[in-house]
Amino acid sequence: MTQRVLTGITTTGTLHLGNYVGAIRRAIAASLEPGVESFFFMADYHALIKCDDPARIAASRLQIAATWLAAGLDTERVVFYRQSDIPEIPELTWLLTCVTSKGQMNRAHAYKGAVDANTAAGEDPDAGITMGLYSYPILMAADILMFNAHRVPVGRDQVQHIEMARDVAQRFNHQFGAGQDLFVLPEANVEEDAALLPGLDGRKMSKSYDNSIPLFEGGSKALKEAIARIVTDSRLPGEPKEPEGQALVTIYDAFATPAQRAEFRVALRAGLAWGEAKQQLFECIEAQIGPMRARYAELMAQPEKIEAILQQGAVRARRLAAPLLAQAREAVGLRSFSAPLQGAAEAKVEKAALPVFKQYREADGRFYFKLNAADGGLLLQSQAFASGRDAGQWVARLKREGAAVLAEAPVQSVGEATAIAAALAALQLDAQP
Ligand code: TRP
Repeated sequence: MTQRVLTGITTTGTLHLGNYVGAIRRAIAASLEPGVESFFFMADYHALIKCDDPARIAASRLQIAATWLAAGLDTERVVFYRQSDIPEIPELTWLLTCVTSKGQMNRAHAYKGAVDANTAAGEDPDAGITMGLYSYPILMAADILMFNAHRVPVGRDQVQHIEMARDVAQRFNHQFGAGQDLFVLPEANVEEDAALLPGLDGRKMSKSYDNSIPLFEGGSKALKEAIARIVTDSRLPGEPKEPEGQALVTIYDAFATPAQRAEFRVALRAGLAWGEAKQQLFECIEAQIGPMRARYAELMAQPEKIEAILQQGAVRARRLAAPLLAQAREAVGLRSFSAPLQGAAEAKVEKAALPVFKQYREADGRFYFKLNAADGGLLLQSQAFASGRDAGQWVARLKREGAAVLAEAPVQSVGEATAIAAALAALQLDAQP
């Protein structure tokens, strides 16, 4: 069976080298594996939770879309879209919201972190916290369940959200699935040794630590300047250096071939100057990022081209999302009153399980009928009739008028009164157009 892999990137700000190595490059490589169907999207509804600057939101989703494309995403292979182009996602979010326990949302990291910060600052615990932040994990669950993704490659900080998505899926399936699993239970895909790229200061590369190396922003000049700021030890040129544990070396590893990695280590141990090492790191990264940056600039100059690609992606995504959402709506009872499809399906189910009247002639030459329950048990037994027509007329009346004529009908009740009434009601329903 094909494995569905899905991941989203929140569109606030621009991307840094750590996003490229940890998310984009990995995701694109994974999309090329056989038997994998990939879904990548701009989580722009999520961006609204973190950012209330419309210009920044608008710029970021375009930049991030262009980044994915420049990095070599094959949009024939991958379903690539903006979250906000898929109206089925917020609709599903509500259905899921109604099966999500508030207590579980109280425990979500992002919300808890905000509450803790408020408390520490002596503020009201919920100061400045929107319902968007609070419900963030449910929107994320909808992103994932909407496409029945099996695997979700994420950073460690997102694992809790995937577990919540599993829980929500499980609850929905249990409550509304009628024995059928509407939603796949997703799994987080955290690569244990996932080169979490260190930043300039050796901590994880992150915008919030102000230690990141820009991916495309500022061109090769900004890349070079950032690399110059990578913190190293103070060994002088010519002094042997221990490469392991140096942020600079770890970043180099993320772009170098195994042979280059080994050579780099040998050179450092032999006294390569840090300045020289930084130059080599710059060249290594630039050789890979430079051509992408050129493609990125080209794409950014043609936003209408990106728009067209994303519109196509939305069509493909919605082709999958719409039928699943329709099933989910049906499952919770939001059904069309005329519902031709579902009505037909239900009628079929009932037909298979309908009670039956049987007419027959006995050896005595007289005519009879009986009513059998769907499971075959005898419910009613008629008296004898002189003609088949008489018997048939009573059957027709009982079918039409149900239990109301039972008292005057020439029948003997064999089954329980409630079972007989239910069987006659089912037949009456079935007779309706
Ligand atoms: N919350 C994720 C992040 O900040 C982004 C995201 C939104 C996502 N929806 C998703 C990731 C669905 C994976 C699957 O990194």
